[in-house]
Amino acid sequence: MEYGTLISQAAEMMREEPWYASAMSNLSALLMTSLPDLNWAGFYLMRDGRLTVGPFQGKPACIHITLGKGVCGTAAQTDSVQRVPDVHEFPGHIACDSASNSEIVLPVHRREDGTVAAVLDLDSTLFARFCEEDERGLLLAVRAIEEEIDWDR
Ligand code: SME
Repeated sequence: MEYGTLISQAAEMMREEPWYASAMSNLSALLMTSLPDLNWAGFYLMRDGRLTVGPFQGKPACIHITLGKGVCGTAAQTDSVQRVPDVHEFPGHIACDSASNSEIVLPVHRREDGTVAAVLDLDSTLFARFCEEDERGLLLAVRAIEEEIDWDR
């Protein structure tokens, strides 16, 4: 996958409408349709000290995730990318879709203070779907989101 093209398309979408609900909805759709072998792509937003499901593509998902719990809660609490080749071996993994076998979760930060405002979560039914190149490309996509998105309006 050509992440350069994906990131240009993402940046273009967000420049036209940076409001997070529109931006994250289209970004989820862009990721789901551009990257092969995904069964879930979307965002959890930090609200009232926990993660709450935001715009996504895929099967209905867990609504709330406590910080420190599962792959998403771990990524948010430790402010670090979690690239998990086999989710069944991740302690406390939350199985929203039992078909998922690998997952990558990346924290998304606010420009103003660098705090974690959301996480981007991608799931796959393949084991070890996400390689280092995916992580690098997705980190660039997250940097573009952090630059462009409007969290508050
Ligand atoms: N598997 C995630 C939960 C979110 S779903 O994958 C959409 C986790 O363990 O945090």
